[in-house]
Amino acid sequence: MTYLYPQIIFSKLFGACLLASLMLLAPLTAQAEYGDVVLNNRAEQSGMRPVIFPHWFHRIRFKCKVCHTEVGFEMRAGANDILMADIIDGKLCGKCHNNKIAWGPQNCHLCHSGLPGLKTGIRGGDSTGGPGKW
Ligand code: HEC
Ligand code: HEC
Ligand code: HEC
Repeated sequence: MTYLYPQIIFSKLFGACLLASLMLLAPLTAQAEYGDVVLNNRAEQSGMRPVIFPHWFHRIRFKCKVCHTEVGFEMRAGANDILMADIIDGKLCGKCHNNKIAWGPQNCHLCHSGLPGLKTGIRGGDSTGGPGKW
């Protein structure tokens, strides 16, 4: 019987290491996956409110690769140069916001819902505010 003992200790140690490394990884991913993305590279300069993109809201409905591979959004807040003409043309947000998969580009206020002065970047850490909350 006694010869099993080291194995039990080993498996407990291994379990503890695994748990510890998972706990270390968690905070690194939380921000981008659960928060909102403020998009204001151009909006306010053009007289529109900043755009709030609720990342979490979308992320629970679609796989990452839908947007970050197929639609083509780069995985960095502010990295994508998004023009309204492209959206109306069915690109980027407009791949879905086309009155078929989701409501269309005529609903300006649903996307341009940020308070004036918000800078491009992640808001909310591990919680989502959603449209009009920031
Ligand atoms: C599906 C979401 C969405 C809707 C609906 C929407 N926009 Fe936008 N719009 C965006 C995004 C995203 C940007 C890029 C924001 C940035 O980086 O500044 C943008 C940028 C803009 C810009 C600046 C860039 C450019 O192309 O001139 C204007 C002006 C604009 N939108 C006007 C409108 C108007 C007017 C409406 C309603 C008729 C509207 N938007 C509806 C998402 C949307
Ligand atoms: C509906 C589309 C969509 C889906 C689904 C989606 N994302 Fe995103 N993601 C975006 C957009 C749009 C941005 C902002 C890009 C910008 O600001 O130019 C973004 C930004 C990011 C960023 C950058 C955040 C930062 O701090 O700079 C990361 C990381 C990211 N997404 C990871 C993911 C992961 C992981 C998944 C799946 C679990 C996912 N995304 C699903 C559209 C999506
Ligand atoms: C892969 C498809 C897809 C893409 C790409 C996409 N959306 Fe959406 N979005 C949806 C769907 C589906 C809904 C839910 C529509 C409904 O409730 O009728 C939604 C809802 C929303 C909402 C409302 C959230 C709420 O709490 O009701 C906002 C705001 C929004 N999208 C903004 C954007 C912006 C800005 C972009 C581009 C940066 C974008 N979306 C790109 C599919 C997409």
